[in-house]
Formats: sequence, C-alpha cells, structure tokens
Amino acid sequence: MKITVIGAGNVGATAAQMLANKELANDIVLLDINEGVAKGKALDMYETMPILGSDSRIHGTSDYADTAGSSIVIITAGLARKPGMTRDDLLVKNNEIVSTCAKQAFEVSPNAYFIVVSNPLDVMTYVTLKVTGLPRERVLGQAGVLDTARYRAFISMETGVSMRDIQCQLLGGHGDTMVPLPRFTSVGGIPVTDFIGAERLNEIVERAKGGGGEIVKLLQTGSAYYAPGTAAVEMAEAIIKDQKRILPCTVMLEGEYGHNDVCVGVPIVIGKNGMERLVELNLTSDEKALFDESANHVKGTIQEALELFKK
Ligand code: LAC
Repeated sequence: MKITVIGAGNVGATAAQMLANKELANDIVLLDINEGVAKGKALDMYETMPILGSDSRIHGTSDYADTAGSSIVIITAGLARKPGMTRDDLLVKNNEIVSTCAKQAFEVSPNAYFIVVSNPLDVMTYVTLKVTGLPRERVLGQAGVLDTARYRAFISMETGVSMRDIQCQLLGGHGDTMVPLPRFTSVGGIPVTDFIGAERLNEIVERAKGGGGEIVKLLQTGSAYYAPGTAAVEMAEAIIKDQKRILPCTVMLEGEYGHNDVCVGVPIVIGKNGMERLVELNLTSDEKALFDESANHVKGTIQEALELFKK
C-alpha cells in the first residue's frame, strides 16, 4: 500500500503523520514543490516511527516519479485562508496549483483514489475530477468529515456526552452555506433535540458552520490543520480497510438531490471502491432549500473556475 500526500504544509504533514501513526500504508510519500520542506518533514516524521512503533516508511520528494503506483493520493497543496478571506478567495491561485498537481499525480498513478482537501474544496474536487477524467467514485472531497467533527465536538461539549456517541449528517458545500442537519443528529441514538433546546442548537449549528473561520481568526497566520488532515485520513482508512462507513463527502452529483454537474457534500458509503453508494436523504422543504442554495453557490464558483481554464 502506497499513499501520496501532495503538499507538505500543515494539513499535508498532519495527514502524513496520522497515516504513519495508524500504519495505514507501508509506503507514504510526502510531495512538495519545496523539496527541502518535504524531505525535512518526512525525515522528522520517519524518526518518530521507532517511538510510535510503526513500520510505515515516509519519504519526502518534489518528483512525481516517486509517487508512481500510489493507491491513494491526498491533495492538500495550495494556499490557506488568512483572516478576512473566504475559501472562495483562494480560487485563482489554488485552481492552478490543484489542477497541475492532480494531472501530474494521475499520470503516474492512474488507478489511485483521489482525496481532495485544498480549498475552495468543492470546486477543487470538481477540478480534480475534470483534469484526471476519473469516474466520480474515485474522486472524493474532504469537507463533511471535518465539518461534522466540529459539530460533534461542540455537541459533546454542550451535553457532556462522549464524542464517540454523537452522530450526525451534513450536506452542501464547504463554506458558509453548508447545511448541518439537526434532524439527523443523535446522542447515543437519541435525537439531539432531547438534550439541547432549539435556540441553543441553532447557535451550535452556526458555530459549526463558521468553525474554519473561528480557527483562522485565532491563528491569524493561516487556517486549521489538525482536524482537516485527520479527516482526510479517516476517509483514506475507510477505503483501505473497506469499512463501508457512511461519511459526508464531496462528490459529483448526477441528478441526485435534483442537481447535476456539481461537486458538493452528501452522505456516501465509502469502502474499497471509493464511493460505493450515494445516500439520498429524504429532506424537508426547508432542508432542501438550504441544500439548493449551497449547491447553487458552488455551481457559481465552478463557473468561475471554468472561466479560468479558458484564459
Ligand atoms: C477549514 C478550512 C481548512 O474549514 O477549510 O478549517
């Protein structure tokens, strides 16, 4: 099992370290255009393996030839948000970076599953799908696992119940229009509304939606990375171990939820074939309206990305 992580910034490094820590692959490649950073971080991580008791080998490189034959490619390359920026503000620069990375990685690993983490997430997933020409089952965007992790953490904080017992679903784009779903949120199988009143729950939903921005504001110099990197690894693990988890992931819609030609977050069953099933929830008209708003917002940004390719 060989996994490549593209981008040796904070998200990529967190993902690589977590993959090695969990010994999910015996061969982990950390690639960055800055070869010294990739090599330095990879060596530093490799030197933690005797302490962690893991036999994963990690090496850093700037050469795509070293990534050949990867089963999974995780794309984290690109700029991160700074205070005052939206994820969409990263479009022009990250569109160029992600499309180049995806193309080069695909050339040497045509059978890989791609997990996209770079922002604006939904659009970068779309771009990866288009430049690789892979079927939609193989190109998955990481956003929902992160967004639900935030939401679950806040609900655990509020109820004092174990993180493990908080389950939920979330739909839509990875941005201000994301749609956490209280109706599909449970604490140990019990509806969350039995624990938290409507008004307070709404505050928690709003905090989850702005969860990325909350970290950006605190850090001042960049955006979150522990939770985003770890979330990508949870998706990789589901593929590697054929877990058939139901996770919210960003995938191309082909008519589901009434939308076409847009990558957006929905619950999927994820296993050794990547997306094995797309789960269509029965939404109320209010939930559907929020979903439509989010999907339409992403479609607008996809159009901007397509314009960039014409230039
Ligand atoms: C976040 C960024 C990474 O949500 O999108 O933290």
